[in-house]
Amino acid sequence: MRLQALLGIDIPVIQASMVWLNSAELAAAVSNAGGLGVLGPNAGRKVANGDIAKTAEDFRQEIIKTRALTDKPFAVNYLLPIEGVEISFKYAEPLLEVILQENINIVITSGKDITKGEKYIRRLKDAGVIVIHREISPTVENSILAEKMGIDAIIITGHEAGGHLSEHRISTLALLPQVTDAVKIPVIAAGGIYNQKTAKAATAMGAAGVYVGTRFITTFESPASLNTKQAIVNVLSEDLVEINTPAGDVRVIVTESIRAGRGSSEIGIIKTGMLDGDHQHGVITVSESAGGIEKISSAKDVVCELSYAFN
Ligand SMILES: Cc1cc2nc3c(=O)[nH]c(=O)nc-3n(C[C@H](O)[C@H](O)[C@H](O)COP(=O)(O)O)c2cc1C
Repeated sequence: MRLQALLGIDIPVIQASMVWLNSAELAAAVSNAGGLGVLGPNAGRKVANGDIAKTAEDFRQEIIKTRALTDKPFAVNYLLPIEGVEISFKYAEPLLEVILQENINIVITSGKDITKGEKYIRRLKDAGVIVIHREISPTVENSILAEKMGIDAIIITGHEAGGHLSEHRISTLALLPQVTDAVKIPVIAAGGIYNQKTAKAATAMGAAGVYVGTRFITTFESPASLNTKQAIVNVLSEDLVEINTPAGDVRVIVTESIRAGRGSSEIGIIKTGMLDGDHQHGVITVSESAGGIEKISSAKDVVCELSYAFN
């Protein structure tokens, strides 16, 4: 119950941040069902504009829209700037300002090295924000470090996860129990969790909550295109492949773009493939567990199904 009390929610099911694939509608539906909805990068947007001020303003509008749709807590994802990726530093300040001006009280930071993001985390903590951290390549060592830095809860992502993969090939099953033994703060499990059984396995390994991405893509409220949702429902786990992209490795469904060798060279491949539904040029990145997802459901039904793992 510690995580529910910390976040002010009834069910410790958190909808994962997914670039382009989150929206006020999805976040509010999850929060209204008793879980925690999250606004990720470019939430609610349909076009890339490359304009930093406009991106920050759009982010503010999506927060305002979410508040109009729910009076329950929700969170936003803040990407800590990544060394060597100049553009990430340009967005860092304007987006942090929106978070602080809008009095967001739960932030999920994600990044490649928590120590490099310390000054941003400190500003959030000083403003009284609850900070949950997701290291892209989590280990026992960087989890202990996060706890020492005053992070309120951590998300541990196994190699089963959709999106950019950890540089370590460690499964949720192997990593999660090591981390729950090593830290005292609540640990939230991510990677491969899509139904009651997988959520129950996470709680058996000491997780205080679950962070679920792929399953929420196949909800009615998700902004993903219908052909993307159907491709996820149809795919078998053994048919997934891993490709290398400029931002790291991702596991994808084999679509026309992958067969043609185009997927990894496209800019904005996730938006193209999953939001626009252009499977000739973009990619569909999913969890290893995607083979188990059998239908498109409402976000409320997903939260409800997973909630039984916490009884
Ligand atoms: C399409 C897609 C986009 C993602 N984008 C982000 C992101 O912008 N920021 C982030 O921290 N994680 C991102 N992730 C990772 C998710 O937040 C989460 O860790 C992962 O989906 C959990 O694993 P699951 O898909 O097996 O549920 C993304 C995942 C997917 C599938």
